[in-house]
Amino acid sequence: MNNIIIQGSSRSQGNTNIITKIIQDSLKANIIDLKKKNINNYSYEHENLNDDFLSVIKEIIEYDTIIFITPVYWYSMSGIMKTFFDRITDCLKIEKEIGRKLKGKNMITISCGSDRTETEDFFVPFRNSANYLGMNYLGDIHTWIEKDIPEDEVLEKIEVFINEIKNKPPYKNN
Ligand SMILES: Cc1cc2nc3c(=O)[nH]c(=O)nc-3n(C[C@H](O)[C@H](O)[C@H](O)COP(=O)(O)O)c2cc1C
Repeated sequence: MNNIIIQGSSRSQGNTNIITKIIQDSLKANIIDLKKKNINNYSYEHENLNDDFLSVIKEIIEYDTIIFITPVYWYSMSGIMKTFFDRITDCLKIEKEIGRKLKGKNMITISCGSDRTETEDFFVPFRNSANYLGMNYLGDIHTWIEKDIPEDEVLEKIEVFINEIKNKPPYKNN
């Protein structure tokens, strides 16, 4: 099983990156930092095909499991992450071969807020998108960082979650 983390924070070395590094270590995943990519808003006229989106999605489809890690900005995923999801529409409209390759892949989602309370329905867009794309949604977890480092409670929560994922088919079977 090979894993790729898609980090969608507005700062590359912020709180979300702390969580990204923990997950990278436990799942031996590679990382794509969307902040470092030039990915424009969705265009109905497909005007943005020369930006970084296509190269990023082509890289992603080489992996079995895609882990989206986003900060909580205004009770929702980050704008960077949302723009990335909007652009997946390109794979349904014009780059259809790439869209088809997302089918059967695994998706995991992780949020990182400052509030320990998980925003109601935060993960619904991810679950529904996985379902729409024919991906296996393996699960999600909310994390938080109040000061500069995650509390033990967060670290324990991540450890339990990752162990659950590792024991879950189809992840376990590969
Ligand atoms: C624009 C913005 C909106 C935010 N909205 C929320 C929020 O709705 N709920 C929350 O718990 N934290 C919120 N926060 C705090 C961040 O989610 C939190 O500090 C997170 O760990 C930051 O991750 P980052 O360093 O990768 O950006 C917000 C922060 C920013 C910058």
